[in-house]
Amino acid sequence: MHDAAKEMLQQAIGKAALAEAPQTYAAYAPSNIALSKYWGKRDRARNLPLNSSLSISLAEWGSHTQVGPSEDGLDHVTLGGEELALETPFAAKALKFADLFRGEKAVPLRIETNNTIPTAAGLASSASGFAALTRALCGSFGLTDVVSEAEMSLLARLGSGSATRSFWHGFVRWDKGVREDGADSFAHPLDVRWPEFRIAILPVDVGPKSHSSRDGMNHTVATSPLFQSWPDQAEADCAAIERAVCAQDFDTLGALAEANALAMHATMQAARPALSYLTAESWVLLERLWQARKDGLLAFATMDAGANIKLIFLETATQDVTQTFPNAQVIVPFDQV
Ligand code: DP6
Repeated sequence: MHDAAKEMLQQAIGKAALAEAPQTYAAYAPSNIALSKYWGKRDRARNLPLNSSLSISLAEWGSHTQVGPSEDGLDHVTLGGEELALETPFAAKALKFADLFRGEKAVPLRIETNNTIPTAAGLASSASGFAALTRALCGSFGLTDVVSEAEMSLLARLGSGSATRSFWHGFVRWDKGVREDGADSFAHPLDVRWPEFRIAILPVDVGPKSHSSRDGMNHTVATSPLFQSWPDQAEADCAAIERAVCAQDFDTLGALAEANALAMHATMQAARPALSYLTAESWVLLERLWQARKDGLLAFATMDAGANIKLIFLETATQDVTQTFPNAQVIVPFDQV
């Protein structure tokens, strides 16, 4: 079936005066955390979402990816300096994505990725990974002048939905779009700079995920009777969260973001069989947060397809947050940007 992202790339490749061989090109993309979640697809092949989402990027926590020609005629994929077997899921996904650029041509590539996200934070890196890979492939294949960042976001969606939001720092919104070919489903940055905004990661479980977010959302969509209420509520939450971000109304934003995350997890708990990424330790931290909030701490939680808790708060609450949660890893999203 027709795919807008693939068609755009083919046209860009046609427009660019392609060099014989790909050039070596390095790119960076920050990871991001959704304040209004993407959960559920209307089209699995194109990663088209059922609802829009809105995120905050994690500044220097992200992926550095370099793409270039391979000297020995074979594909090579490294992660954190270690060469991966090509059939490992990470290498296979990266090369399948690179195939969109090299097409039928046998252009052997070297793809090197280094994540700056502390391993102990237990955060997934597929969002920053696919965004950095998209940027690096565009650079390597000479497409930076003909493919815009919005178009890169469109392309990265084919790798992973949340990667659409990793092309910019700060707050980013991914519009779900309505078109079947996906032409209107990509992200854009919000024109908001909020230097006092803070994120803290409370690491719970650093082991590998029990289920990928992809499998988890597909299982939830297919089996959870609560899921039917999700797309409309999530769309309304996304619009309200965008308004709160633009107004820099932290109380409203925090309450909405926490409610949105808990609602997403409720759809999973009602799946059959139930799916729970949150562990006993996650709930202990949430209870501690709610008690601290009763005592005056202005911080809110959000949780993704893993056991970690992420907090959002303003600069003035930093000391209270780190006292309440001594292992909190604080991120300053607008420090350098
Ligand atoms: C819970 O982007 O990892 O983090 O599109 O299948 O690759 P795929 O899924 P992915 O899902 C992210 C889900 C989430 C919420 C969010 O980031 O919006």
